[in-house]
Amino acid sequence: MKNHTSTLDIVKASKSKIEDTDFENLTFGKVFTDHMMECDYVDGAWQTPKIKPYGPLQLDPSAKVFHYGQAVFEGMKAFKDKDDHIWLFRPDENFRRINRSSERLAIPAFPEEYFFSALEELLKIDKDWIKKGFGNSLYIRPFVIATEEGVSAAPAKKYKFMIICSPAQAYYSGEVRVQFSEKYSRAADGGVGFAKAAGNYAAQFYPTNLAKDAGFQQVIWTDANTHEYLEEAGTMNIFFRVGDKLITAPTSDRILDGVTRKSVITLAEEFNIPLEVRRVKVKEIIDAAKSGELKEIFGTGTATVINPIRGFGYAGEKYELPKLEDSYAKVFKDKLMKIQYNETEDKYGWRYAV
Ligand code: COI
Repeated sequence: MKNHTSTLDIVKASKSKIEDTDFENLTFGKVFTDHMMECDYVDGAWQTPKIKPYGPLQLDPSAKVFHYGQAVFEGMKAFKDKDDHIWLFRPDENFRRINRSSERLAIPAFPEEYFFSALEELLKIDKDWIKKGFGNSLYIRPFVIATEEGVSAAPAKKYKFMIICSPAQAYYSGEVRVQFSEKYSRAADGGVGFAKAAGNYAAQFYPTNLAKDAGFQQVIWTDANTHEYLEEAGTMNIFFRVGDKLITAPTSDRILDGVTRKSVITLAEEFNIPLEVRRVKVKEIIDAAKSGELKEIFGTGTATVINPIRGFGYAGEKYELPKLEDSYAKVFKDKLMKIQYNETEDKYGWRYAV
């Protein structure tokens, strides 16, 4: 997978913003590094990728992204180890997934050699923005937008593939409580739920605001047909621990094939933690909470890593989860971080040296 070389146009920023950045008090996704990658699709081909100073774009107001939401994105992270080496975590998964998302939104696939050579160069140019230490990372946001002007409802003929980077610490500050959705849905059969389509996220904002008003930070979406099955949280895939057994919903055309999710599934096997990948009934989880068998719920995602859920709400009732010394969430998080920060053996070949 290595040896991605391709021609890049590089223009360096005249002045760095790094001195003005307070790395001890970062709000997720608010500060961006000095450079970005931009690559245009015109005349049926992706052009030479450019690395240039981070800054605003100029787009025609009729660009299709504004009207029809033809846009997809990815979330990845770079980590710095004790010896200043930079690592990505399973970037091949993100590369494949952005092209799967693009295909569903009728966006042309992006070439692998452009993706990796531009990403590596960008990370090398902005390497000082990646801070050492568990919890510090550089969040990487590749995305594609339809830039062709004109409001006819048809796929664009022009696109921009971009990568922007933001120094990151925790995604959620404080404890997370979730509401199980009774009415709203995130995705439907045959739809775009499996894709990281921008509109999937916009559609969650309104019901999530309602959940926030009721004292929750996130919603766990249930299936659109019956609302009887728990699917994913939108920013995270979800795992339930009932007794010693872990349960997570299978991926489908409604559920994102999360990279952290699949890594946890592999680690569960390594740790001999019993795991069932199957549909999870709301009723089963409520019954387990009432009987005391529900030990943990946690979310997995690139931005959030492994996020314990402290409690949840459903049908007007609130449930709290116990605080465990030996939580699975902690075991998985410790192991994943050790792999990501090059502090342990990488037996699955998940680390990618930049
Ligand atoms: C990620 O975890 O990288 C995501 O894309 C979720 C996003 C809402 C922050």
